[in-house]
Amino acid sequence: MTAPILRRLSDLRALHSDWRREGARIGLVPTMGALHDGHLSLVTAAKATCDRVIVTIFVNPRQFNSLEDLAKYPRTEHEDAEKLAPYGVDAIYVPDPDQIYPDGYATNVSVSGLTDVLEGEFRPGHFDGVATVVAKLFLQSGADQAFFGEKDYQQLMVVTRMARDLDIPITVQGCATIREPSGLAMSSRNMRLSPEALGRAAELYPVLRELADQLQAGADFDESTTLARTALANAGFGEVEYLDLRCAETLAPLSHPDRPARLLVAVWLDGIRLIDNITVDQLSN
Ligand code: PAF
Repeated sequence: MTAPILRRLSDLRALHSDWRREGARIGLVPTMGALHDGHLSLVTAAKATCDRVIVTIFVNPRQFNSLEDLAKYPRTEHEDAEKLAPYGVDAIYVPDPDQIYPDGYATNVSVSGLTDVLEGEFRPGHFDGVATVVAKLFLQSGADQAFFGEKDYQQLMVVTRMARDLDIPITVQGCATIREPSGLAMSSRNMRLSPEALGRAAELYPVLRELADQLQAGADFDESTTLARTALANAGFGEVEYLDLRCAETLAPLSHPDRPARLLVAVWLDGIRLIDNITVDQLSN
């Protein structure tokens, strides 16, 4: 059955009060729509641990770096509601823009440090937009638990820190990246790749995997990343914005995985910016 679509905060609050009276544990899956199996895996995780699940769909203008990118972002509300139907979610919150940013809205949530690197370096202001809208969705929904994919690893770190710093009583749960059979991480942006570019995009994961294996085996960071960058160029990728090994907790740069680490990449392909990341096992001493 298709879940009710709510567009006003007052409707969400009314539902929330009923659920609280029932003593329900409320789960939240924030999205910008264009749902794929990665989002649906978050819904499955939410259904497994929560009594009531809200999926939000809001294309947040404040986290885009260009008006063109915002305009091109796929908007597929009808298809999204159909995809959610078999999952038995309890509400789909598709707030009208004024429910998030009413006239005169003046508050910005900014998480320092974690947002200065990687995506933050190439997408100035992006994480302020994310932290602001996610803080609002956390507070508006009053959810107990929120589900985010590890595909956007830095985002997961940022929203976790934001909730902790602002004492928002919600548990942020990271969920494994869902990949196509080729290994390509699922993303709404993949829809914008031509079939030919999709084929090339499948080369990203094997290159990342190979580099992670080398680093885990103690290889020199500069030499191995140079080889990985060459492999990406040979596979037809464009500019590599970053290909970095980082501490999994603080995102500080590492040259060896001497603590839990993450390998993260942002690369252009046919005018589309792809990001991905994988865990790198700690070197044994
Ligand atoms: O990951 C996304 O889809 C968005 O950044 C989020 C978390 C829904 C905030 O707009």
